[in-house]
Amino acid sequence: MESFNFFFPTRIVFGNGKLGIIGEETARLGKRALLVTYPSQSLKNAVDQAVELLGQNGVETVLFTDIEANPTHAQVNLGGEAARDAGCDVVIGLGGGSAVDSAKAIAVVATEGVDIWDIYEGHPITRPSLPLVAVPTTAGTGTEATFFTVISHRELKRKEGFARTQFYPKLSIVDPLLTLSLSPYMTAATGLDALSHAIEAYYCRASTPVVEALAARAVRLVSENLRRAVFNGQDVVARYNMMLANTLAGMAITQSDSCLAHVVGEAVGAVYNTGHGVSVAVSLPATMEYNCFAAMDQMANIASWMGVDTFGLTKRELAALAPGAVRTLIEDVGLPRGLAALGVKDTSAVMELMLRPGMDAASPRPAGQADFELLMQACLSPEMGYWRLGGK
Ligand SMILES: [Fe+2]
Repeated sequence: MESFNFFFPTRIVFGNGKLGIIGEETARLGKRALLVTYPSQSLKNAVDQAVELLGQNGVETVLFTDIEANPTHAQVNLGGEAARDAGCDVVIGLGGGSAVDSAKAIAVVATEGVDIWDIYEGHPITRPSLPLVAVPTTAGTGTEATFFTVISHRELKRKEGFARTQFYPKLSIVDPLLTLSLSPYMTAATGLDALSHAIEAYYCRASTPVVEALAARAVRLVSENLRRAVFNGQDVVARYNMMLANTLAGMAITQSDSCLAHVVGEAVGAVYNTGHGVSVAVSLPATMEYNCFAAMDQMANIASWMGVDTFGLTKRELAALAPGAVRTLIEDVGLPRGLAALGVKDTSAVMELMLRPGMDAASPRPAGQADFELLMQACLSPEMGYWRLGGK
């Protein structure tokens, strides 16, 4: 039995309509809030409601909306400056992963006064950061429950996820009703991202018993609710369960690590600017096939959590069915079967990113250059896969 740590400093308030507490709760943390979000018709109601509730509770709001889908270091630095200039004493991130990730980084930069890229490269955080309130409006990244942020550097053509304890939100208000307006495609892509967090956090080398408990519930919830949420966006129960899966999977991954689907998906996203959720989702089945027998017990459990009929099957047989269960879900919710469908053609730049040292550190089965080349091919065209990867 291995020893493990569990540390989780974020207070999470979860439930339908909980956006309603944003005013009174933020008022406990500060008097002037930098509200980090992005211009979006589907977010307008939530932003208006938040600003009104903050005002009613004596919190002045400074809006910062200069955030893109893949937030850049320059935008984060500007956000930090805006918070300092306006004398903000609390930061709110309201929106999808890009808004919350930006807010995490802005809350640090605002007090530290250095470039966020310097912090990524190891500059120590020496000052207390501004308290952060995270309000996610998608059910996928789980960023409201993690100490990760993902920031791009356009000039360097880099996109890096990195972790700092200071990135944990002080408070996360997780309101499933905020996801009702998500499109079927975004619901599918972000939902598969949540599934990939639960699956990868569980089977990778950094997993712990706490991660297993969180992942088991999250995988079941996605398997039982994602199709419903995609095909009927107004299904409040499915939306609630997907949001819960998203937060549990975030808690799992922040205690553990991601694995090869994120290595492939993030490299593809950095080069081709494809969405994070879809890039990772499409890469998940083949990377699970790669690890199918290095993590056989875990894969067998994943298959049963996903609803595979376990009757009469050996553990080996069950494990081999796990990647297919994920592939079926991906197809059912209308995401592409391979990365080629996302326009990925020349893979040399992607390979370069994947072959940096340590990229396979969390993988139960190590991966060298030849393995990554095979994996890339398998992710590109789904006809390849398990047998081609020598998994038998
Ligand atoms: Fe992810």
